[in-house]
Amino acid sequence: MLFTKKDILDMESLSVDEINLILDTADRMKEISIRPIKKVPTLRGKTVVLFFYEPSTRTRISFDIAAKRLSADSLSIAASTSSIVKGETLADTARNLEAMNPDIIVLRHSSAGTSHLLAGLVKSSVINAGDGMHAHPTQALLDLMTVREKRGGISGLRIAIIGDISHSRVARSNIIGFTKMGAEVVITGPPTMIPKGIETLGASVSYNVDKAICNADVIMMLRIQKERQKSFLFPTEREYSKVYGLTKERVENARSNVLIMHPGPVNRGVEIAYEVVDGPYSIILDQVTNGVAVRMALLYLVSGGARNAGAD
Ligand code: CP
Repeated sequence: MLFTKKDILDMESLSVDEINLILDTADRMKEISIRPIKKVPTLRGKTVVLFFYEPSTRTRISFDIAAKRLSADSLSIAASTSSIVKGETLADTARNLEAMNPDIIVLRHSSAGTSHLLAGLVKSSVINAGDGMHAHPTQALLDLMTVREKRGGISGLRIAIIGDISHSRVARSNIIGFTKMGAEVVITGPPTMIPKGIETLGASVSYNVDKAICNADVIMMLRIQKERQKSFLFPTEREYSKVYGLTKERVENARSNVLIMHPGPVNRGVEIAYEVVDGPYSIILDQVTNGVAVRMALLYLVSGGARNAGAD
């Protein structure tokens, strides 16, 4: 199958076949990262611009590493050190970037829809690295890759996504991604953090955290996004941890082969206990490792894959 997408903007616009192609390509890319010399010439001569208006550790660095492992030239700009601080608009910034002829622009922005806007303005491929509360498709793809790798498939699994669903682009992209691949997704958390109508994305809603945990094959915990909350949506962090947090006791009631995920950054002791982050069921760092492979696959595929790049 040929990958014909110019941009990666959200999970809605990827078909099951395209998702499978991305995951299969990422599986093959993963091997490059364990070679003594972690570099192939596949994207030599391509330029990748990483434009991050919001802080990021995992996404920015893994895109940077992914580009370098494929021999692309990558450069990072942060909003705080760009002419955005002098009042330049996103559209003008995009036009100026385009004038320098990059091949791929990776954009993280605090406003929903910015990647779609950028993709309509530039000829370069645009990859959404998280836009406001809307979408984080590369996170969902690396989560799908990690679950598929651990369980051998995704269809039929029960995924519990727990926490601040309202403010979470990761939740939205994962609900769409996992349901598209045949999993059953249950979301749970404080009623103040579950948006009305979320079921339309394909998930069911449960307010019984213990039941959601004990029935799940995969438990995905989400951070409370204080930076996006306009008011406190629960009384104290201690109370949140007690009522909704993934404690050691709750994990003891989960399935014996449960997988525990978190997109990061983790608030230890709030949504997830210290010992659970580092415990035997946690695959949080596997997610980070697979983030490099998925992003290598995406850079390769939007560059034309085997058609345009020198496959190695
Ligand atoms: N999961 C995630 O997007 O992490 P960063 O904000 O560190 O990129």
